[in-house]
Amino acid sequence: MSMNPFTPNFGQVPRHIAGRSQIISDIMNALDGNLGDPARTSILVGARGTGKTALLSYFAAEAEQLGWISINVTCIPGMLEDILQQVAYKAKEFVGKEKKGKIKGVSVGQLFSIEWETLKEDHQNWRTEITKVLDKLESEDIGLLITVDEVTASLGEMIELASIYQLLVRENRKISLLMAGLPSEVSSLLNDRSVSFLRRASNYNMGRIEDYEVEEAFENTVIDAGKEIKPEALTKAVGAVRGFPYMLQLVGYRAWQQAKNKKYINAEDVDKAIVKASNDFENRVLKATYKELSQQDIVFLKAMLEDENVTEISAIEKRIGKPSGYVSRYRARLIERGVIDSPRRGQVQFALPGMKEFLQEQE
Ligand SMILES: Nc1ncnc2c1ncn2[C@@H]1O[C@H](COP(=O)(O)OP(=O)(O)O)[C@@H](O)[C@H]1O
Ligand SMILES: [Mg+2]
Repeated sequence: MSMNPFTPNFGQVPRHIAGRSQIISDIMNALDGNLGDPARTSILVGARGTGKTALLSYFAAEAEQLGWISINVTCIPGMLEDILQQVAYKAKEFVGKEKKGKIKGVSVGQLFSIEWETLKEDHQNWRTEITKVLDKLESEDIGLLITVDEVTASLGEMIELASIYQLLVRENRKISLLMAGLPSEVSSLLNDRSVSFLRRASNYNMGRIEDYEVEEAFENTVIDAGKEIKPEALTKAVGAVRGFPYMLQLVGYRAWQQAKNKKYINAEDVDKAIVKASNDFENRVLKATYKELSQQDIVFLKAMLEDENVTEISAIEKRIGKPSGYVSRYRARLIERGVIDSPRRGQVQFALPGMKEFLQEQE
């Protein structure tokens, strides 16, 4: 039996990325193109499970094919030191890769092997150290891509990194900073006075993926791994995914499992898979999201339950008996948390698959 090709784990790069083609082409063009391309400084913004980490990993891997060194860090204490250590590690790693021609005609290992030790021993400030690194890379026309996951404004090192990065951009260095974070964290970072230049970074909202894109990725994942899926089964799966990347992987994983040794995944397999996947999604995403909500958030959300699909904001005002200023404040808060989104002006809908049903079960 062949291996289950779906990747229902946070941070795992999927075999087929559904949608996101605009983000991907913008950022790949920026890495491949001109120094001044604004997408070299980008922020991916979205709720849990929308695919931020997976995309950062994807860009890091692709960038290395284009002659960049990629450094991936999470926004936690020690991040700046971690960046320098990873540069050292990458430099060594590239010695082996050199022969496979990954980075053309470059021996980064040679560039770093001696100098690195001295770099690490004297504790100069981070800007000086990274400048030395960039000088070395520049002489071989290698770029430095730094990805920072789970950004938060409360970490001093994030502010420090952003401020130094700004100076390096001004010096016309071949450098790129791709960040990702939850909407509320990103907005507090962008509101931090000392890094106001980040407000000019390209901001990508990791919204819902279109059904046809989910369908395509789902089917290709199945086919590439040696099974097929009946049209009716595929339609059901797409319906349950509701444009949400993590749900795509959960449904796919369970459906594959359910089909066992059969060549085809059928509708019955998918029905059973959806029940299990919804359960997984509830445990790994919905419960955590729910816990972060305030009483007032929940009152707002419960006022949406009686509608089939979308809810008019004016209806919420009537149902909870609060003025429009109050309602629009909670609307903004819940959109920031990725719980709801606004398909049209004056309307909202649930953004997380199963959130509505989950709320219905809560007291
Ligand atoms: N565009 C996509 N198409 C299909 N699956 C995806 C896509 N992006 C992410 N995934 C899958 O969704 C799950 C969550 O991705 P992850 O990057 O961890 O999300 P986040 O960092 O936003 O919480 C993973 O299982 C990953 O394989
Ligand atoms: Mg993540």
